[in-house]
Amino acid sequence: MSKFNLVILSGAGISAESGLKTFRDSDGLWENYHIHDVATPQAWQKDPALVLQFYNERRKNALAASPNKGHITCAELEADFHVQIVTQNVDNLHERAGSANILHLHGQLMQARGQKDIETIVDLTEGEDIELGQLAPDGTQLRPHIVWFGEMVPMLPTAAELVQQADAMIVVGTSLQVYPAASLVDFLDDNAPLLVVDPAKPDYNFGRAVEYFQEGASTGMPKAEAWLRNWFLNVEG
Ligand code: OAD
Repeated sequence: MSKFNLVILSGAGISAESGLKTFRDSDGLWENYHIHDVATPQAWQKDPALVLQFYNERRKNALAASPNKGHITCAELEADFHVQIVTQNVDNLHERAGSANILHLHGQLMQARGQKDIETIVDLTEGEDIELGQLAPDGTQLRPHIVWFGEMVPMLPTAAELVQQADAMIVVGTSLQVYPAASLVDFLDDNAPLLVVDPAKPDYNFGRAVEYFQEGASTGMPKAEAWLRNWFLNVEG
């Protein structure tokens, strides 16, 4: 099998079976916190201690979790496809499952930066919290390297280009409610198969054929993998 380009767009649902809460499911993070209190630049101005506490807790939980079969299948697909992960997740479970090419659209919990120089990223060590008073190399308070609501998504053009070049795409564990990330699916070529793995059908107008696997990532991803292998074998004749 020659190496087709496969883009996998993942969201919080792929990490759900690793024990990490999604945002919009019942008992999800946004039921227990208000987005405006912890995930906007205004929240950071108003109450940086609360914002730091929120992300310090997310980091602890993420590090305590392990990749599940969903993440592992993404890595295994590299045996036959050139796989590019585009994830909205800020955990590092794709990395720990062994995927090689991972683009984090919304930043990463294990990274931090200052507020003036947004290019200089600091890696956090395992177990390290970001504390009030801890300064970044630019001399400003260190903040999580997370794209908050109302901020630019710097990796979006790169991600859109990767989707444009894809021969197939899997969308897994995302409600597709957050833009501009959701709009990435619109960049996929009409002739390239689009597979969606999610126990719920995302409320998104794809305007094209979609192959649905309506189940959790740990069982749905292996089925999507089998479907793709079969499809490309047929394409190759
Ligand atoms: P959401 O919480 O909006 O959606 C989670 C999706 O995962 C839903 O479609 C669920 O049906 C699905 N799901 C639940 N359990 C699953 C499982 N076991 N296997 C597969 N799917 C499952 O999370 P996202 O779409 O990732 O942004 O949210 C997008 C962005 O909104 C996040 O990156 C974050 C959030 O606010 C920022 O913080 C900037």
